Amino acid sequence: MGKKKTDTPASAGAKPAAEKGSIRFGVIGCGGRADGLTRTLMSDKRGDLLAICDIDPEQIDHYEKMAKSSLGHGTKHYTDYKDLLDNADIDAVIIATPDQWHHEMAVEAFKKKKHVFLEKPAGTNLDQNQAILKAAKASGKTLEIGYVLRYSPFYQGVRSLVQSGDIGNPLAADALEEYYGAFHFYRGWWKSKGNNGGIMIQKICHDMDLWYWIFGKPRKIVAFESLMNFKPGGWDSKAKTCNECKNHCPYYIPPEGVKASKTKSNECVYNDPHDITDNCNVLVQFESGMTMSQGMNFFNAVTRSDRFIHVVGSTGEISGWLSENMVRYDKRHGNDNDVKYLQFSTTGADGHGGGDQIQILKFLDALVEGREALAGRESAYWSSIIIMGAQMAADQNRVIDVKELTAKYPFPG
Ligand SMILES: NC(=O)c1ccc[n+]([C@@H]2O[C@H](COP(=O)([O-])OP(=O)(O)OC[C@H]3O[C@@H](n4cnc5c(N)ncnc54)[C@H](O)[C@@H]3O)[C@@H](O)[C@H]2O)c1
Repeated sequence: MGKKKTDTPASAGAKPAAEKGSIRFGVIGCGGRADGLTRTLMSDKRGDLLAICDIDPEQIDHYEKMAKSSLGHGTKHYTDYKDLLDNADIDAVIIATPDQWHHEMAVEAFKKKKHVFLEKPAGTNLDQNQAILKAAKASGKTLEIGYVLRYSPFYQGVRSLVQSGDIGNPLAADALEEYYGAFHFYRGWWKSKGNNGGIMIQKICHDMDLWYWIFGKPRKIVAFESLMNFKPGGWDSKAKTCNECKNHCPYYIPPEGVKASKTKSNECVYNDPHDITDNCNVLVQFESGMTMSQGMNFFNAVTRSDRFIHVVGSTGEISGWLSENMVRYDKRHGNDNDVKYLQFSTTGADGHGGGDQIQILKFLDALVEGREALAGRESAYWSSIIIMGAQMAADQNRVIDVKELTAKYPFPG
């Protein structure tokens, strides 16, 4: 088999030299996601945290304590992100606000000449995506999208096997994501398609980014989504919130648990009105002619949240689960003795297969070296073309020809 290789050149050698705290960060959206990113950032001597912005004073307090204990100094506090962006001492921002803010905040950050680590998705529709990419290009600054799976040993290993020709030409592929924890999507800001563009865009933009990275440009896209379980009748209760509920489901949050919950709210995940779905299938045909199907559902068993990938090539096939960090290889015209198991690492599925510990440090590498990030503008563009194209296909009940999208939304270069 070909050697496992990584696509992050800076990971191979010693860390680039940079003065202590030389890249000064601001964080906009001090919630659950930015927490891990900020902790990892502060653990690296090259990054410093100067300022934080959130509309929730408790989150500001929490991050301020974190900064003081990690860095030994406090931060400047903002409730309006534009004020943080006006701070000329800040070189780079992490934007980890709810999805509906990504576009506006990223565009403004680039106007103010900041480097941007933007959590996914890269906008909630292609107009927004285009504006982000144009602003990034005009600024000359670095953009990285939170496509953390690109940094996981598992997907780096899968890509390396496919691209090295170890399975011949890729001919067909299928993938699945199951996520038990997705019940929070039916609460708080997450539950509105107006906020996230649709659950496919919110959740499997990650996967579409991977498939572009591994298999190349798409040609046609079709998708189906539906709401099968997180709807009235999914549980024997008519309550609209956990507070009114007499028949607690496994997602029940008691009143005293609301403050500490992910969404800080306890709407009934079945009965509270929402306009997002809970399962889908996306079918992509790539320019090579290869087709790939991607399934997603949120009603899997709690013990089965995971991602699966299976790629069949002209000389062999690979298949594996992210949580196992391993693929099985089968030779097309071989026998049982040719079956191999290739272990990429032992990090498990947590933290996106290990990627959570890596991505922000690789963003620092890109800034120090003055280059594009691995999940940079091209990744932000093609992942969005595929997943936003899939959302259009599902909404408009038609096959999307990618040429139609790229003609209207060309890559800004
Ligand atoms: N890359 C990944 O795998 C991954 C994983 C989880 C979440 N995310 C993304 O990260 C983002 C945040 O998710 P989260 O789970 O941290 O959500 P969250 O709700 O925990 O955090 C969002 C934070 O933004 C703050 N906020 C809201 N509006 C604001 C505004 N106008 N100005 C400043 N602050 C504001 C909120 O008070 C909250 O503290 C989402 O876009 C999500 O898609 C990415």
